[in-house]
Amino acid sequence: MLLPHPTKNIYLYCTMQTIVVTGGAGYIGSHTIIELLTQTKLTVVSVDNYSNSNASAYERVKKITGKDFQKLEFDLCDKTALNQQLSAIKNIAGIIHFAAFKSVPDSVADPLKYYHNNIASLVNILDFAKNNHVTNFIFSSSCSVYGNANELPVTENTPLQKAESPYGHTKQIGEDLIEFFCKANPEFKAVVLRYFNPVGAHVTGLNGELPISRPNNLAPIITQTAVGKNSLTVFGNDFNTRDGYCVRDYIHVSDIADAHLKAFDLIEQNRNKQQLSLYNLGTGNGVSVLEVIHAFEKMSETKLNYKVGPRREGDVIAVYANNDKAKTELNWLPKYNLDDMMLSAWKWQLTLEKGDY
Ligand code: NAD
Ligand code: WQD
Repeated sequence: MLLPHPTKNIYLYCTMQTIVVTGGAGYIGSHTIIELLTQTKLTVVSVDNYSNSNASAYERVKKITGKDFQKLEFDLCDKTALNQQLSAIKNIAGIIHFAAFKSVPDSVADPLKYYHNNIASLVNILDFAKNNHVTNFIFSSSCSVYGNANELPVTENTPLQKAESPYGHTKQIGEDLIEFFCKANPEFKAVVLRYFNPVGAHVTGLNGELPISRPNNLAPIITQTAVGKNSLTVFGNDFNTRDGYCVRDYIHVSDIADAHLKAFDLIEQNRNKQQLSLYNLGTGNGVSVLEVIHAFEKMSETKLNYKVGPRREGDVIAVYANNDKAKTELNWLPKYNLDDMMLSAWKWQLTLEKGDY
C-alpha cells in the first residue's frame, strides 16, 4: 500500500514490502536501486551473477544513498538456486527483471549464448513468480524490438519488424512470452519498458556504466576516447538526416530508473489499464551522433579526436520515441537533457580515471 508523502514527490509504502531487482549490479539496475532506496521505503533485494558487472556497484550505491540492501549471487538460469534463494525472501511485492546479456555484436557472434541466458532466466523468474504468488513484474525491453521501424517517431503501436540481431530477437521473444504468461495467469500484472538509448551516469558522477569488455555503445566510447583509452570512429556521415549523421533517442539512465518506480506504482496500485502495459522510454528527441559529440565537447570542455568511417552494418538510420503514453499513464517526465547526460558521463569517466570507485 502506497502513501503519498505530504511534502515531497516521493513514494512511501506502509508495509515492509520487498522488491527483487535482477541484474541489480548492472548499469541500469544499480541506478534503479539508487532511486528505490532514495524515493521509496521498499526493501531491496538484488540478484546478480556478475557476468557483466562487479559487486563494487553495490558499494557505489551505498556511498550515494547511505543505505544498504540485500544482495544475492546466483545465475538466474539455475532454477534450483533461484528457487532456493528467492523462496527465503518474505513479502515480495514485485520483481524488476533487468538481468540479460545486451551486446548486439556479441549476440550476432554467439546467438545461443543470448537465447539461452535471456530466455531461460526470464522463464525461471516467471515460474518463481507464479509459484510464489508474486503478481507485479517489470521487464527491460529495448527499442531494438522495432527493428527498422516503418514510422517515426515510434509509438507503442508501431508494428515490430524482423529483429536485426539475436539480442533484439530475445527481447521480442521475451515480450511475447510475458504476453502469453499474462493470458494464462489473469492475476499477473506486467509492465514492459522499451528503452531507447540509455546514457549518462548518476548526477554525482559516482556511479555509471562499468564496461567489463570493450564497449560498443557510443557514450562510453566517447568518454574513453577523451581520456585516450579508446578511439572513436563515427559510423558514416552520409545518411539522409539533417546533418548526415545517424539519429537516436538518448535518455538519461536516472530517468530510465525513475520510470521503473512509476511502473511499479502503476501495477501495485492497480491503476494499470491492461494486464500487460507497454511503454517507450525515450526523451522523444532525435539527436544526431554529431550533436552528441558537440554536447560532450561543450560539457567536458575537451576536444574530441574522432574520425568518420564507413557505415556500420545493421545500423538503423534514425529512430526516436513517441513517449506520450509513458508521460500520461506513468506520470513520468524525463528530467535530464543531452548536456546533463554528457556531463554526468564525463564525471563518471573522471571517477574511473581516479580509480575511486
Ligand atoms: P548490464 O549488463 O549492465 O546489466 C545486466 C546485469 O545482469 C549484469 O550485472 C549481469 O551481470 C546480470 N546478469 C546477466 N545475466 C544474468 C543471469 N543469468 N543471472 C544473474 N545475473 C545476470 O546491462 P544494462 O545496460 O544495465 O541493461 C539492463 C537491461 O536493460 C537488460 O535487459 C538490457 O537488455 C536492457 N536494455 C539495455 C539497454 C542499454 O543500452 N543499456 C537498452 C535497452 C534495453
Ligand atoms: C548509437 C549511435 C551508431 C559507436 C544499441 C542497441 C539497442 C540498445 C542501445 C540495448 C549509432 C553510432 C556508435 C561507435 C558510432 N541496447 N556509433 N561509433 O546501435 O543505437 O543501439 O544500444 O537494448 O538495442 O541496438 O546504440 O550506442 O551502439 O550507437 O558512430 O563507435 O552511435 O552508428 O548511430 P544503437 P550505439
